[in-house]
Amino acid sequence: MTTVLAVANQKGGVAKTTTVASLGAALAGVGQRVLVVDLDPQGCLTFSLGHNPDRLERSVHDVLVGDAEAKEVLLDTDEGVSLLPATIDLAGAEALLLMRPGREFALKRALAPLLANVDVVIIDCPPSLGVLTLNGLTAAEAVLVPLQCETLAHRGVGQLLRTVSEVKQVTNPGLELLGALPTLYDARTTHSRDVLADVADRYDLPVLSPPIPRTVRFAEASASGATVLAGRKNKGAQAYRELAENLLEHWAGNDLVTFDQQ
Ligand SMILES: Nc1ncnc2c1ncn2[C@@H]1O[C@H](COP(=O)(O)OP(=O)(O)O)[C@@H](O)[C@H]1O
Ligand SMILES: [Mg+2]
Repeated sequence: MTTVLAVANQKGGVAKTTTVASLGAALAGVGQRVLVVDLDPQGCLTFSLGHNPDRLERSVHDVLVGDAEAKEVLLDTDEGVSLLPATIDLAGAEALLLMRPGREFALKRALAPLLANVDVVIIDCPPSLGVLTLNGLTAAEAVLVPLQCETLAHRGVGQLLRTVSEVKQVTNPGLELLGALPTLYDARTTHSRDVLADVADRYDLPVLSPPIPRTVRFAEASASGATVLAGRKNKGAQAYRELAENLLEHWAGNDLVTFDQQ
């Protein structure tokens, strides 16, 4: 059984890409066969996994518009996950897909032949609620919403949750809203906790555990295109490993571990 997880939030800078790369690496680290999908034309996930989007001939764009099969475009990474990469071409996919019937299903159809050889697929959605994100949510069984705890990060959450419920009504009735993942979390301040409590109350949204602490190592790793988890013993990497364990437990049929608001 393959689990397909979309990581979505139309706000940029909330650690979607970091979550996809780190969670993917953590799951691969415990023996899962992991495929990550870069759905952002910026190609940050592709870059952070060691591939330069500017040098790639083909990407998920070709797959979505029907010019290539997903298996022809897959790349290996040092993290041990397979990558369906993005290039800036993907910026044109929205317009091309808009003219096609069944446009929300392009990714789901493209991934189907790969699922037999993969345990977990994680989709990195772009910072918008356009056709690409709709493709991600339509292809997924579950959606995880990274939420930065520092600012008024929750201001777009209502809109995102409306989109999720529309997707459930129209293209993907089985979609499970896993919950919000607190990112860039600072346990020393009450502010982070207040933001979380507020989000949980206001939107009746489960808050996943553990929160991912802000650590300087992440900024360094993504700037250098170096590995996210490999050989690192920092708090952030450990939090993603723990999240991976919690999700595997959940997918094995147990209740999801949620964050104790205190
Ligand atoms: N736990 C963390 N601690 C410190 N910096 C982080 C952490 N998670 C992400 N970042 C940094 O925050 C920035 C935005 O993260 P990114 O994953 O690209 O967000 P998004 O994909 O939502 O736009 C990046 O520079 C990344 O390195
Ligand atoms: Mg991103």
